[in-house]
Amino acid sequence: MSEFDARARSWDQNPGHLKRAEAVAADIKAALRACGLLERPGLRGLEYGAGTGTLGLLLRDVFAELIMMDASREMVRVMEEKCRALEQEVQDDKQEDKQDGSVADLHPVFVNLEQEAWTGAPVDVAFALMVMHHVGELELVLRRLYNLLDEEGCLIVVDLQAEDGSFHGEDFDGHLGFEPERFSALLKDLGFTRVDQHICYIMERETAAGLREFPLVMWVAAKEKKVG
Ligand SMILES: C[S@@+](CC[C@H](N)C(=O)[O-])C[C@H]1O[C@@H](n2cnc3c(N)ncnc32)[C@H](O)[C@@H]1O
Repeated sequence: MSEFDARARSWDQNPGHLKRAEAVAADIKAALRACGLLERPGLRGLEYGAGTGTLGLLLRDVFAELIMMDASREMVRVMEEKCRALEQEVQDDKQEDKQDGSVADLHPVFVNLEQEAWTGAPVDVAFALMVMHHVGELELVLRRLYNLLDEEGCLIVVDLQAEDGSFHGEDFDGHLGFEPERFSALLKDLGFTRVDQHICYIMERETAAGLREFPLVMWVAAKEKKVG
């Protein structure tokens, strides 16, 4: 059982996870509006490392279809239960004429892009919150995310700014956040034509040295149609 399998059932009990996802969802909507994607009809999305699906579900009114991908079977199981409950709610509301039932088609899937490429139809928007610092084969995963985007699609990554290791403490073997300019350069090297970055949220976390603030950076990377 992975660390995230063990944490899946209690993940949503941490109010900080919802607070962070709400702030990031608002910022993602603003970014999609700014690049003209918010109004695109039939928008297809994919969340990478979706966990229990908190962020994706907050964005379900933006997409016609949303793939919610994670490499932890337990996280995917929790997502499936939440999606089924939500679909039932929509169905009940429809029967009572409470709403028109317009909600994304939700597809939780168990996939690890470090081990396999996504073979489904391309999407317009891919996004990931607090996942990349856990990904060993970072370049491979980012390339696979680039490849699963449609032409004129966009990738949004939200993750830790470079930190001194106190976020996870000892024994963590992932990335200690990312230096914003360097991560942008990596995205450009992979083919994204325009990359914008900004601090989108400040997390507070208890560390061995007391309460600390950890800024999260949002990178918005646009893929453009190749000419010729
Ligand atoms: C810190 S949690 C964040 C979950 C969710 N995005 C959130 O913000 O609540 C990281 C998530 O990424 C997933 N993950 C880690 N490495 C992954 C990989 N290589 N492929 C897919 N998912 C991965 C974990 O299973 C976990 O659900």
